[in-house]
Amino acid sequence: MYEPQMQLTPEQRAILDGESGEVMAKVMETVVRFGDIFGAKRLVKVTHGEGHLVTSFGIGLLKPLFSTMDRLIEAGVKVPEGFTVDPRPLDYRNVKCSFLEKIVFDHILYSKQQMYEDQLLKVGLKSKKGFSCACYLDEVGNIPSKGDILSWAESSAVVYANSVLGARCNRNSGMLDLFGSIVGYVPDFGLVTDEGRKATWKVYVRTTKKPEAQVLGSAIGMKVMEAVPYVYGLDRFLGTTLDEGAKSYLKDFGAATASNGAVGLYHIDGLTPEAKELGEALVVPDAAEYVIDDAELERVYRSYPNMWKKKDASPELVFIGCPHLSFEQLRSWSHDIVNGLEKSGRTRVAVETVMTSAPDVVAHFRTTSEYDALVASGVHISSICPLMYTNNPLTKKKAIATNSNKLRTYSIARYYKDAEILDILCGKEVKR
Ligand code: F3S
Repeated sequence: MYEPQMQLTPEQRAILDGESGEVMAKVMETVVRFGDIFGAKRLVKVTHGEGHLVTSFGIGLLKPLFSTMDRLIEAGVKVPEGFTVDPRPLDYRNVKCSFLEKIVFDHILYSKQQMYEDQLLKVGLKSKKGFSCACYLDEVGNIPSKGDILSWAESSAVVYANSVLGARCNRNSGMLDLFGSIVGYVPDFGLVTDEGRKATWKVYVRTTKKPEAQVLGSAIGMKVMEAVPYVYGLDRFLGTTLDEGAKSYLKDFGAATASNGAVGLYHIDGLTPEAKELGEALVVPDAAEYVIDDAELERVYRSYPNMWKKKDASPELVFIGCPHLSFEQLRSWSHDIVNGLEKSGRTRVAVETVMTSAPDVVAHFRTTSEYDALVASGVHISSICPLMYTNNPLTKKKAIATNSNKLRTYSIARYYKDAEILDILCGKEVKR
């Protein structure tokens, strides 16, 4: 039997000793071992019980995952308050695939998709619509409050919950997110603690105009890696209120910090909840400094390699929406595309384009006139994860353009700024 190094309460010890069954004991042991590795002294209660799972795709090779799920199901163990989950990998109606690509997806890559989704429902997936990395959007409704403790793992959701919502969650891995939500405890270390939420970097944004969210996040992520940055100067562009525009910006900014580095929490001076409350008290003495001006942003943007097979190819597929777009972003992209096409004398986009958003957000957007205009322009709206689409050796070869720095980092898709993406859609040549 595992003897923990941390101190457990009698109730936690009883679960570990098997009083809630053998499977719950294993779940507890995994969470305790995880905490022991990171030197946690105790477990703390998960106060936002609704979980969010990082995996959403039934890759046939993930056999240990499926057998663990089976054991949970056989024992009747599930997340008491349910959970949402990351996006599905496929949507043939809106993201076209050839016959051969479908064979690879259906029979080799995601051959267990249906079985895995059935398993997820049995261990607590709340709704067949809950497939989105942006589970914290109003339409999806998995929204922790300030100070809540969570057991999530999806990096873009963790950094948002920590930074924009002021909740507390470490960058866990897949399955640890599920186990913490099942047992209702997580180890007390890192971003869960007051000390772990202190900033060790001061970042000064001194650009002449609002920086591209995904390039700024990329620059900060690559510089500070897993540290906590305190960012000055962004409130000049975003204001001091977390309105829809600011939240959408920080969603994309955060995903880039988390994927181009390993940031799990950032503070924006004058804007995010803990920065507003505690200000510079959040910054450790002797914090390192990083100044970002126009030249630095441009340097970072120019440093992204072109990984396309044919370097000078024209984009053949555009993905917008990694992480998933908010309702506000769907609307503003829709206006920009429709106006841009009109000015260019076109009625339809020049390149196959897929915008991705949560199923509940898409359902909301479908009720608007902008939806009809966007679809009429030839843009497809889907709820997949674009990264999962690029897993296929056949789709991998495509010249994919994206405004997502996360997708650029984990695939061979090429990064373009928002204005460049719009030019591509309008049939204009983009010179780099
Ligand atoms: Fe979301 Fe997939 Fe991007 S999970 S953040 S759309 S890689």
